[in-house]
Amino acid sequence: MAACGLDFGTSNSALGIVTQQGPRLVRVDNDSELIPTAIFFDLDNWEHPRFGQAAIDAAIGREPGRFLRGLKSILGSELFERTTQIGPHRITFASVIERFIRHLKAKAEETLGHELDSVVHGRPVHFYDGDTQADARAQASLETIVRKSGFKNVRFVYEPIAAAYHYEASVENEELVLVADIGGGTSDFSLIRIGPQRRGLRDRKDDILANTGRRLGGSDLDAALSLAVVMPLLGLGSFQREKNLPIPKSIYFELAHWATLPFVYSWTNVDLVRRLHADACEPGKLQRLQRTLELQLGHRIAFAAEAAKIALSGGAIASVDLEFLEAGLSCSVQRTQFELAIAERTAALTNAAVQCIRTAGINARQIGAIFFTGGSSRVPVFQEAVARAAPHAVRRSASDLLSVALGLTKAAQRSFG
Ligand SMILES: Nc1ncnc2c1ncn2[C@@H]1O[C@H](COP(=O)(O)OP(=O)(O)OP(=O)(O)O)[C@@H](O)[C@H]1O
Ligand SMILES: [Mg+2]
Repeated sequence: MAACGLDFGTSNSALGIVTQQGPRLVRVDNDSELIPTAIFFDLDNWEHPRFGQAAIDAAIGREPGRFLRGLKSILGSELFERTTQIGPHRITFASVIERFIRHLKAKAEETLGHELDSVVHGRPVHFYDGDTQADARAQASLETIVRKSGFKNVRFVYEPIAAAYHYEASVENEELVLVADIGGGTSDFSLIRIGPQRRGLRDRKDDILANTGRRLGGSDLDAALSLAVVMPLLGLGSFQREKNLPIPKSIYFELAHWATLPFVYSWTNVDLVRRLHADACEPGKLQRLQRTLELQLGHRIAFAAEAAKIALSGGAIASVDLEFLEAGLSCSVQRTQFELAIAERTAALTNAAVQCIRTAGINARQIGAIFFTGGSSRVPVFQEAVARAAPHAVRRSASDLLSVALGLTKAAQRSFG
């Protein structure tokens, strides 16, 4: 039996294989062990899509084709049932995800020299908040896709539990740890007892005290930043002349969210924006919106918003460069302004961490460490928000973007190795 651990993330994915020498990450995107969860279909060669960084480069270079990112967040939703147009073809989102997973599996098999048949696959604690049916649908769809990709044995493990297994390898004494995995699409928390004596145990049920999660991650922050400072430049909040009504907001929301971007360039939207432009109080702004749809610049705007968000983790001010939309166009955003735009989400993180501790029925003072992982755990207010739930705990982090894949591979070794 050949087994692997697979972290299919909203923004990034990674895969580790179980070898005689132990778990090992595979180079899945040229020399990198991390691959952006992105796929690009060329219009004239759609059977051979590009994956990862090459897909992003194609999208930014505005090559003719279809770019998809944030696919994990549509698992279990009504969007998942829809198809997407690629040139003259319509393909299902399930088959897009399947191609991506097949690509990772093939990379691993190339490295291994033989076929993989078993996988420990990560999943968030909740794909959806408070909707158990959508949650079950999401996991079932994912399992079907993973099996179709060629895996015969599939086990799911919560992503924060996997991260805990990775962190556990570095501790010398037993401790109670709160894992905070704040990623691109979800924020997941686990309270788990870890330690050198527990590492090898096959069954960790008694060590896992509680898990909680929220459908909230870095993509929501990109959208919040975009809606706060970029979309107003494209007319969000402005008015129509004749009826004195606000310009409808739905297109701006579709443009700001990675998961809905593939649907924003529809003929209905292009036609609507042309009409709105003709009747706008501020036609210059609507002209930018019209250009965005006609030239399919939404992804570039989303990347620019994401880059500004990342810059704000290290600085007090960042600029969003929109030169590709209009010569000389850019805007700046202050960290305080960004923190205000995401305040509700920050509070939701504290609540989720507190809920995890309450569910475990322990006192927060018993928690020795908080292990931060996932790209969005680098947002300073997010770290503070989680730390508020267990202020006495030491804060730790390691292999931010790879700890889930490493832990899943450890779990694969225990389950199938
Ligand atoms: N320095 C940074 N500051 C803020 N956000 C960051 C930083 N670096 C990366 N990110 C964000 O982290 C997110 C990606 O993190 P990660 O790779 O952990 O997510 P994921 O595993 O793909 O998602 P999920 O686990 O939710 O499915 C993106 O939204 C990215 O913009
Ligand atoms: Mg993740």
